[in-house]
Amino acid sequence: MPRSTTPKKKGAPKRLEISRIGAQGDGISHGADGDIYVPFTATGDVVDVWLEPGPRGTMRASLEAIVTPGVDRAEPSCRHFGSCGGCSLQHLTTDAYAGFVRDRVKTALSQHGLGDVPIEAPHISPPGSRRRLALKALRTSRGVLLGFNQRQSHHLVDVKECPIARPALVALLKPLRAVLGDLLTLRAGLDITLTDSDSGIDLLISGRVSLDLARREALATFAESYDLASVHVLDDGFLDPVSVRRAPKMRFGEVDAPLPPGGFVQATKEGETALLEAILEWTAGATHCADLFAGIGTFSLPLARHSTVHAVEGARAAVEALRKAVHGTQSLKQVTLDHRDLFRRPLVVHELNRFGAVIIDPPRAGAAAQMTELARSAVPAVIAVSCNPNTFARDARLLVDGGYDLVCVRPVDQFLWSPHVELVAHFLKTA
Ligand SMILES: C[S@@+](CC[C@H](N)C(=O)[O-])C[C@H]1O[C@@H](n2cnc3c(N)ncnc32)[C@H](O)[C@@H]1O
Repeated sequence: MPRSTTPKKKGAPKRLEISRIGAQGDGISHGADGDIYVPFTATGDVVDVWLEPGPRGTMRASLEAIVTPGVDRAEPSCRHFGSCGGCSLQHLTTDAYAGFVRDRVKTALSQHGLGDVPIEAPHISPPGSRRRLALKALRTSRGVLLGFNQRQSHHLVDVKECPIARPALVALLKPLRAVLGDLLTLRAGLDITLTDSDSGIDLLISGRVSLDLARREALATFAESYDLASVHVLDDGFLDPVSVRRAPKMRFGEVDAPLPPGGFVQATKEGETALLEAILEWTAGATHCADLFAGIGTFSLPLARHSTVHAVEGARAAVEALRKAVHGTQSLKQVTLDHRDLFRRPLVVHELNRFGAVIIDPPRAGAAAQMTELARSAVPAVIAVSCNPNTFARDARLLVDGGYDLVCVRPVDQFLWSPHVELVAHFLKTA
């Protein structure tokens, strides 16, 4: 039975039937008094719950018992399911989970009058494929905890297994817990980011760390014993390269790009490949492309084999990484770089109109200012990658109102068993 914060139990639990899964991944029961949200349930489940008031007049419930499981329910594989905040949908069958991903995109589009847009079958990254883990470490009176926050709480779940992550990352959890013991104080926790780059694993430790010689040596020995590519410590804005045995890098097509510590990577190689396939298919024939929010060149570098690319990115470290990747690579068409804040200074219509296709992959907030300019442009094709269906749908409406046809949307889910859904979409200028 999943553990969650249980409200005070008075009287008898209430019996409910779950009719659908909401955008945040909770099961929803439609009652006479409105919707009741029940975490860790599946459509068709009949459950006993304890009720408590939720935000904005909603009712929340914690699960007491599953009376009759619905047909969408599967056995979760991870021992931490129900306490760890990472995977709230691991109890769904493969089909039910794919249906959730699709519905999540459809609901967001419908809210902006785009409910009729064709949504392709979701691409879902398999278990064991996540190549970055963003963990927290804490020293408690019971020892060192290393893991993820409990759902909707600051309590840390000490993670012993993680079926979504690459096995090489999971194998590091136990020895890492031991080496962190010496770095942690009782007062402050640390953020730990493990990234399985294409040259090996980078360990980034962020927080207050007093690195004397002994601790520095312990981290270097750890890096050597477990063949890490590198260990960095980020303390008060200062990045300390404690051990760099191999510079972390990512391979895009035939080109290697250096990966700045903590720099953005698509969460799985499988998801990245699915996004890139769509981008290459939908930009075919375009000889001049722009890649907006380009990162270290995940899309720019493979695209530059067929087309000139104007890559625009706001993080200086990412722009420099892409510059190094392009420098000295003969096989690419021309790649130009623009270090620019696209929220404040989007590419304007006359800058956009020279491109045959524009790829845009903003952060979760979306890119309303840039989409407003694109909507007014004559760019024939826009390919939008998004990690937030809500801001995507809002921005898609801007393009559609500007004379673009939203040809199709392909969900690309890189955060297996979580309500976090990504997608790639194809727009063509028609008017
Ligand atoms: C979702 S990531 C995509 C990166 C890249 N397309 C990839 O697939 O690796 C979003 C990128 O937008 C950049 N970014 C965030 N805010 C920005 C802004 N205001 N202007 C320009 N770039 C920004 C981030 O640094 C990050 O590289």
